Amino acid sequence: MKTYHIAALAGDGIGPEIMAEAKKVLALVELRNPVKFVIEDLSFGGVAYFETGDAFPEATKLACDKADAILKGTIGLSHEESKKIPVEKQPERGALLPLRARYQTFANFRPVYLPKELAHFSPLRPEIIGDGIDIMIIRELVGGVYFGRKERGVNKLGKRFVDEHLEYDEDQIRRILKVGFETARSRKKVLHNIHKSNVLLSSVLWNEVLEEVAPQYRDVTVKHMLVDSAATALCLNPGQFDVMVMENLFGDILSDQGGGILGSLGLMPSACMGPDKAYYEPSHGSAPDIAGKNIANPYSMIGSVAMMLEMSFGLKEEAKNLWAALKTVFASGFTTPDLARGGDKQISTGAFGDKVVEALSKMPKPE
Ligand code: NAD
Ligand code: IPM
Ligand code: MN
Repeated sequence: MKTYHIAALAGDGIGPEIMAEAKKVLALVELRNPVKFVIEDLSFGGVAYFETGDAFPEATKLACDKADAILKGTIGLSHEESKKIPVEKQPERGALLPLRARYQTFANFRPVYLPKELAHFSPLRPEIIGDGIDIMIIRELVGGVYFGRKERGVNKLGKRFVDEHLEYDEDQIRRILKVGFETARSRKKVLHNIHKSNVLLSSVLWNEVLEEVAPQYRDVTVKHMLVDSAATALCLNPGQFDVMVMENLFGDILSDQGGGILGSLGLMPSACMGPDKAYYEPSHGSAPDIAGKNIANPYSMIGSVAMMLEMSFGLKEEAKNLWAALKTVFASGFTTPDLARGGDKQISTGAFGDKVVEALSKMPKPE
């Protein structure tokens, strides 16, 4: 029997609601597999700031250091609520980015996946979707403009100014490109390199490093695409993409667009992998507009659990079962309101989690 310690950071907004569903699933996974999960709930995000004055309190840091994996809900406050907190201490700058930096979780896997049977959830026409959407966006997560030098002040003319740097060194670029190539090698052997080398010097260096890495992966075909063009291509012909690799800010934007072509951000789980530690979170935010209503789609959170089972705990077969269970719930016509169309049976966050648990419990246990 293996014991895994999970640091659970439910966070703000819909975070606690969808985390509750993740825990239901973990409790069942424990019953079906020779594993025990010790889950520690920790304060993180806006809620932690209001409790302690720190969005990433020391006690949370120490518990995350010790945990085998971190499962995060969502953080962030509404535009108006955010103003109650000094900029540097807001949940994004005060908790999430420090979490990423602390564990150098440089490789962010954001699957954009919609099987053909669920194509009706997408706003794209069926002829555009074809056999479904199955893209792995790999986003560099600890570099770029997010973590570059920043300065704010008043210039000689008395005007307020900012100076914000997009910084990468070649090692940071190389390690994420390698993840891109390895992932492409394990899938369809096509890697879309998304960049903006017609303007950004950072992309010129990125592409130079890519040329150096590529010879180690001669079995992988590289296709280059400018990021603006990629935004259009995701809408008009998503089927051309399999693995896409890109820098931090491009990945932030295009992955939310990924949620758009699926039909909801609630379909976007993710895994954030570092050299020694990984954390798992939905790609989306705390959805203040629907928080507290028990209507958020917990797929992204439960999908993040599936990624954790596979990537941190080696429970590959159970992870597959969990993906299948999620699909079964939708295929039976049940969905949360974000995806509901005529004919769908709208259910709550909690009811969706219960249905996933029911579907998983009917599947053969892993050997
Ligand atoms: P958001 O992702 O929270 O919401 C965008 C839209 O998608 C909203 O209409 C929301 O209701 C919907 N949505 C998102 N997740 C959903 C789900 N699971 N089910 C159903 N609908 C869902 O983006 P936002 O409103 O721009 O940001 C809100 C806050 O979240 C901000 O403070 C932002 O900084 C923060 N944020 C945090 C994370 C994170 O924790 N990793 C990611 C993105 C944004
Ligand atoms: C995400 C979010 C974060 C980001 C914010 C909340 C800092 O949008 O995880 O995509 O920009 O990386
Ligand atoms: Mn984002």
